[in-house]
Amino acid sequence: MTKQISLTGIKPTGTPHLGNYLGMIAPALSLVKTYQPIYFIADYHALTTLHDRDLLEQYTREIAATWLALGLNLEEVIFYRQSDVPEIFELTWILSCFTAKGLLNRAHAYKSVTDTNQSLGRNLDDGVNGGLYQYPVLMASDILLFDTDVVPVGYDQKQHIEIARDIATAFNVTYGDVLTIPEALIQESVSVISGLDGRKMSKSYNNTIPLFAEPKKLRKHVMRIVTDSKRPEDPKNPDECNVFGIYKHFANADDVVAMREQYQAGGVAYGDIKQELYELLNTRFTPSRERYNELMAKPQHVEQILEGGAEKARLIAHQKLNQIRSVLGVKVR
Ligand code: ADP
Ligand code: TRP
Repeated sequence: MTKQISLTGIKPTGTPHLGNYLGMIAPALSLVKTYQPIYFIADYHALTTLHDRDLLEQYTREIAATWLALGLNLEEVIFYRQSDVPEIFELTWILSCFTAKGLLNRAHAYKSVTDTNQSLGRNLDDGVNGGLYQYPVLMASDILLFDTDVVPVGYDQKQHIEIARDIATAFNVTYGDVLTIPEALIQESVSVISGLDGRKMSKSYNNTIPLFAEPKKLRKHVMRIVTDSKRPEDPKNPDECNVFGIYKHFANADDVVAMREQYQAGGVAYGDIKQELYELLNTRFTPSRERYNELMAKPQHVEQILEGGAEKARLIAHQKLNQIRSVLGVKVR
């Protein structure tokens, strides 16, 4: 039997962080044997907010090197840059003609801008470009073009997958079972990783721990994690602590239990726990950081890998797009 498809992407709008790793990259890597993985860099999604040529190139390379350094096996995975697959953008137009405008009005990213504008008494669409509004349609196209079965993502992407399902269903109502209805795959325990300040760790909040920061910088980030003002001897609640919230994903199970008890009993200082977390992260990520640095020093090599991936992706995309063109009644190419 052919394997089901697992597809996911990250937009290159900043340096990859622990939230990306725990919430999406690690779960996606765990699927590569049981599914046919299709993983990509969503650079045209980044264009909705990032209009700096050098930065877009830099972040794209960083995301590519991150996946590769973390062990993506190119024999198994189809790995490409979204903008190298033009079929995605033709399908985006087609799908936009099956997308209720109201669906896009309710999409979180757009709605949060209009809500802010409303509270400030501004025009609702101030600062909104058409790309931000259409973002979920482009994402639906990424997913539906490859007959995706599952989409490993963090919780914040759940609504986008639901929109992709709605769009696919609307299309299928008219043309039959042409598009596969995708399923979000969200791992409960890592669905929202907190950042340094306790809000969701996100490139947009400047509260991240970068995955491959050099040891000194990594330690600095960990030391900046916000805690309450309890003294070392005070009992503490591990479930309300941002340091423990990250620690529990990296320490082994026995150490997590022991640390939980130490929190509850009192007698340990936040500074010491942070030091332990830093050491855990540093040990865990040093080998991949070294691979990452090597890849970052060889941009041509990374470029070749992406181009090779795009070739494979386009073979699939071309076929699927033709199937769609043919049911629509436009020319098959
Ligand atoms: P950011 O919010 O930093 O811009 P992205 O939107 O690029 O992150 O997210 C890339 C992937 O990583 C998505 O699947 C997203 O759900 C996941 N992700 C991002 N931040 C977190 C987090 N704090 N916890 C869990 N998953 C996350
Ligand atoms: N919107 C996703 C994010 O911000 C990135 C993305 C683009 C994506 N296309 C996708 C994720 C398709 C999964 C599937 O993280």
